[in-house]
Amino acid sequence: MKDNVAIFDTTLRDGEQAAGTRLGSREKLTIARQLSRLNIDIIEAGYPASSPEDFEAVRLLSREIDNATICALSRAVASDIDACGKALAKAKRARIHTGIGVSDIHILGKFRDEKYGKTLAEKRVKLIKMAVDAVKMAKGLADEVEFYAEDAGRADPEYLFEMLEAAIGAGANVVNIPDTTGYTVPEQFGGLIRSIREKVPNIDKAVISVHCHDDLGMAVANTLAGVHNGARQVEGTINGIGERAGNAALEEVVMALRTRADYFGLRTRIHTNEFYRTSRLVADMLGMIVPANKAVVGGNAFSHSSGIHVDGFLKKRETYEIMRPEDVGFSESRVVLTARTGRHGLRDRLAKLGYKLSQPELNQAYQRFLAVADKKQEVFDEDLIAILHGQLGEVPAVYSLDYLHTYSGTAAIPTATVRMKVRDEVKEGATVGNGQVDAVYRAIAMVTRSSARLTRYEIRAVTSGTEALGEVTVQMEEGGRRVLGRGTSTDVIEASAKAYVDGLNKLADLAQSGQAD
Ligand code: KIV
Ligand code: ZN
Repeated sequence: MKDNVAIFDTTLRDGEQAAGTRLGSREKLTIARQLSRLNIDIIEAGYPASSPEDFEAVRLLSREIDNATICALSRAVASDIDACGKALAKAKRARIHTGIGVSDIHILGKFRDEKYGKTLAEKRVKLIKMAVDAVKMAKGLADEVEFYAEDAGRADPEYLFEMLEAAIGAGANVVNIPDTTGYTVPEQFGGLIRSIREKVPNIDKAVISVHCHDDLGMAVANTLAGVHNGARQVEGTINGIGERAGNAALEEVVMALRTRADYFGLRTRIHTNEFYRTSRLVADMLGMIVPANKAVVGGNAFSHSSGIHVDGFLKKRETYEIMRPEDVGFSESRVVLTARTGRHGLRDRLAKLGYKLSQPELNQAYQRFLAVADKKQEVFDEDLIAILHGQLGEVPAVYSLDYLHTYSGTAAIPTATVRMKVRDEVKEGATVGNGQVDAVYRAIAMVTRSSARLTRYEIRAVTSGTEALGEVTVQMEEGGRRVLGRGTSTDVIEASAKAYVDGLNKLADLAQSGQAD
């Protein structure tokens, strides 16, 4: 029997801390539902004391997700722990993740106030007491308590051992050893985990977790070294998103454990064939592109192009593949989809990708598929997913774009004309702008009388070639509400217009349901 490694996903907490990203509670729920399909053991839903939105996200996920432990983060501060307890109240299985800095850099930098002690030695004693109090308080509010020793990677090991012994003595079920700044190297980090097992007397009463950051590109390697030396929980995020350079990419860690089971002798409960869909959903919702060469889930991860590779691959797949594409959710064989494929072929391909659509959803997807297929020679899986993500979770369309015309050139003033349906009334308007997209957005704002503010605009090619499908993501704000709008088209101006109209519809929907997201 192989040992099990528990998978702790912090995409919605540490991942969401990535610069420029923010998710509302409903968006977090959409991702959490996919994480639960992936069979993640523990989902860290947020940091409830940090904001009302995060509190609400933890509360919502606690209510709605029932096949994973829901975890909430706190500092070793009573008000934080209290907020976690309240937000987690409805969870089937709740975990509070509390902790404190343990490196001298953190102790002297963050706890410099004399109320924590005058000298480093006094502060160290005080912090152990704070940790113990926090764990004891959290024990009364959740099924499980995980203690994190922040910046363990740079801490004095003797002090770290003392801190962990105290936290386990106070009742911590899991002790998390974060390499907060991504400073360590695999041999060293693995050695740290081994010495924790050897030197912390009560370590058999807790599970060791590893939480590595990628500042030097070693988060996954360090995580695996930790596991090889006895950690039985790993923390990370989908696509490795997170603070600064990000966290360990869970899809890489899990597939390394699975592909090299001969070396690690370990297993996880993850349904790995959900990785691709999870990766694309997270990328789409956060507007963070997955590089084509990204391990496991990148668009090229299972593509073969050079003559020698293709020849070898076609003779025997294993010559150039160490994982099977279908094991991470790519479709096995590539059927070329064209405008002549028909509904049946589309449904078949979507089912292979894991999407089961109702008849009305399929009809809607088919219309969008035809519109793309008419403009492209071939429709790829990424195109289909982009088409579907534009459709799933759609809100009622108060605004729709009927007609768009733009005019620009090196010596012309960019001008846009739009015709739109605004609550069943047809309206038209034309205006100029600082570029075509600006002109289109001004024309739409004029016609819809919207005062929404555009706070972010991103464009990316979802597929390759000059006929690539472009995806535009916009962040918009109005009346304290913030939404992401998305649009896809082979024409980037049209994709931009669709994204803006999608954002306006989402704002209208939120305004009507009275929610700030
Ligand atoms: O990186 C880190 O130290 C963390 C802790 C809060 C667990 O994210
Ligand atoms: Zn972290």
